[in-house]
Amino acid sequence: MIMTADDSIERIVRYYGDAEEESRLRQSWFQLEHARTQELIVRHLPPAPATIIDAGGGAGVYACWLTALGYRVHLIDPSPKHVEQARTASARQPDHPLASAEVGDARNLQQPDNSADAILLLGPLYHLVEREDRLACLREAHRVLRPGGVLWGAGISHFASLFDSLTHGFFDDPAFAPIIAQDLENGQHRNPTGNPLYFTDAFFHRPGELSREFLAAGFQILAVVAIEGPAWLARDFDRMWADPAQRERLLEAVRKVEREPSILGASAHVIAIGRK
Ligand SMILES: C[S@@+](CC[C@H](N)C(=O)[O-])C[C@H]1O[C@@H](n2cnc3c(N)ncnc32)[C@H](O)[C@@H]1O
Repeated sequence: MIMTADDSIERIVRYYGDAEEESRLRQSWFQLEHARTQELIVRHLPPAPATIIDAGGGAGVYACWLTALGYRVHLIDPSPKHVEQARTASARQPDHPLASAEVGDARNLQQPDNSADAILLLGPLYHLVEREDRLACLREAHRVLRPGGVLWGAGISHFASLFDSLTHGFFDDPAFAPIIAQDLENGQHRNPTGNPLYFTDAFFHRPGELSREFLAAGFQILAVVAIEGPAWLARDFDRMWADPAQRERLLEAVRKVEREPSILGASAHVIAIGRK
C-alpha cells in the first residue's frame, strides 16, 4: 500500500483526537519545555505589533500568549479539535484575540509572499516524516516571511526515545525495544503498540540534520539550541520545578549548556532559529 501525505495527516489528527495536547504544557517536564520555548522565542522576537504565523499551533498556548503581548497571530493546525481549542482559548482573552485560527497544513500557507514577520513551526518538522515534506514546509515559511523575518523550528532529538525510556521507566518494555532500535538507526519513529505514551509517527532529528534542512530551504541560521537540555531527565523534576529557587537553578543550568554541541542531542527538543 502506498502511504500518501493525506494518510499521514489523518493519522496525526486521529492521534491528537485521543491525546490531551491542551493541558500537556502544564504537566511534569513539559513545563520546562514551555518556559524555555517562550524564552527562546522572546530572544529573537521583533517588537510588537508584528504578524506571526503559528503553523502547527496546537491548542493555541503560544499563539494566545503572543497575542497577549500585542502581536497579530494567525494559527493553523490540521487537527480541527486543536483549532477549536485555540478559538476557545482566544475567546477567553477578548482584549487580545487571535487574528485567525484555521484548519491547515504548514506545507501550504494561505498568506501571500513576504507578508509575515515571524513564523513558528513547533510540531510540523517532527510530524513530517519525509525530508521532502519538511523542506516543502520550510520553503513555504521562507516564501511567506518578509526578508529579515524569523523562523523557529522545533525538532525532537534523535536520542529522545532512549533517554526518555531510561529515565521514565519503560526501557525494559519489550514492545518499546524495536521503537528505540529504529529511532537510533534512522530517526524514523513509529508506534505500532497503540500506547499513546509512545507517541505517533514522527522523524527524530540529529541537531545537524535540523540546521541542514534550514539551510537547504534558504535560511540563515541564527542559533541551534537545546530547549530542555538534560534537565527534562532530572530525578524529582516536579519537586524541583515547584521550588522557585531550584527551578531557577535548573533553568540556569540549561542556559549554560544550551549550545554545547556534545550534549545538544540529550535534550528532548532542539530548536533551530533562522532568518530569511
Ligand atoms: C505536539 S503538538 C505541539 C503544539 C504546539 N506547537 C506546542 O509546541 O506545544 C504538534 C502539532 O503539530 C501539528 N502538525 C502536525 N503536522 C502538521 C502540518 N503538516 N502542518 C501544521 N501542523 C501540523 C499537530 O496537529 C499538532 O497540533
